Amino acid sequence: MAKKRLVSGMRTTGSLHLGHLEGTLKNWVALQEKYECFFFAAVWHAFTDRLKIDNLPEVIDEMIVDWLSVGIDPEKSVIMRQSSMLEHAELAVILSNMTPLGWLERCPTFKDDVRDDEARSTVSLGKLMYPVLMTADIACYNAEVVPVGRDQLPHLELSREIIRRFNGNYGDILKEPEAILSSVPMLLGIDKRKMSKSYNNSIELRETPASLKDKIQQMITDPQRVRRNDPGDPEVCTVYAYHKIYTPDRLEELGAGCRSAAIGCRDCKNILFERINAMLEPIRQRREEIKARPGYIADVLAAGEKRAHEVAGETMHSVRKAMGFLY
Ligand code: TRP
Ligand code: SF4
Repeated sequence: MAKKRLVSGMRTTGSLHLGHLEGTLKNWVALQEKYECFFFAAVWHAFTDRLKIDNLPEVIDEMIVDWLSVGIDPEKSVIMRQSSMLEHAELAVILSNMTPLGWLERCPTFKDDVRDDEARSTVSLGKLMYPVLMTADIACYNAEVVPVGRDQLPHLELSREIIRRFNGNYGDILKEPEAILSSVPMLLGIDKRKMSKSYNNSIELRETPASLKDKIQQMITDPQRVRRNDPGDPEVCTVYAYHKIYTPDRLEELGAGCRSAAIGCRDCKNILFERINAMLEPIRQRREEIKARPGYIADVLAAGEKRAHEVAGETMHSVRKAMGFLY
């Protein structure tokens, strides 16, 4: 039986961190076995809230290197750049005419951005259009499933409505995609806020052992644990939140050790360092192997985009024909 087709994208907003790895990439790697996957660098989407991205070609390439180093496999999955796929743009223009403004203005991610008049004067049309472009990204490939984070669910719901509207007018041409949610908990930054590049609190995939150690040392622990003998509450500690993910086999021991002050924060952090470092080590090695092959990323993208054009080209042919753009 043919595998169902899956599409997902990641914005090119800078180097990737553990939040991307745990929240998205590990899921993508597993999904490759079950689905025909199309993964793309959402380059245009990255411009919805910034005017310029310095060294964009390098930023894109580095992101692709990160994907491959964690196990996204170009033999199994199509890897491409949205900015090479003009079919997405054409379909977005078409679908924008079928999308009521109200649907977009009610979208929670957009509403958050335009709380007041001042915000209205700076938020871009691209931001408003975000879900329309996302719909085009998906519909170009007639994807049946789309893995997204919880925050993206309203976008996917909109995509389904936009596609339904298109099909209502032109026949069953585009597929309505289903969301698959990853069950992974959101990772905290080292300062206990949401992990985000803009907060400067992230642990990057490219961390060296030394810089990783340094970041883990900076992690916020239980503030009540001032001295080594003070008992702590692991449930308020960022380090412990990480142990839940990376040290599940010793969680009880560490929790009890914290509560009774049998273990100090330094040792507790060292254990976490060993775990994360051991996970990152093979990723670092694969990154070095990839970087040692000049032209490899360009080849991967060329092959991926060739295949992507085949599929998107076919979809766009049907769309153009249905709408009367072909004579
Ligand atoms: N909006 C997604 C995010 O920020 C990225 C994205 C763009 C995407 N187009 C998509 C994800 C299409 C899935 C399908 O995470
Ligand atoms: Fe956090 Fe570990 Fe220190 Fe407890 S012992 S406060 S869990 S770092």
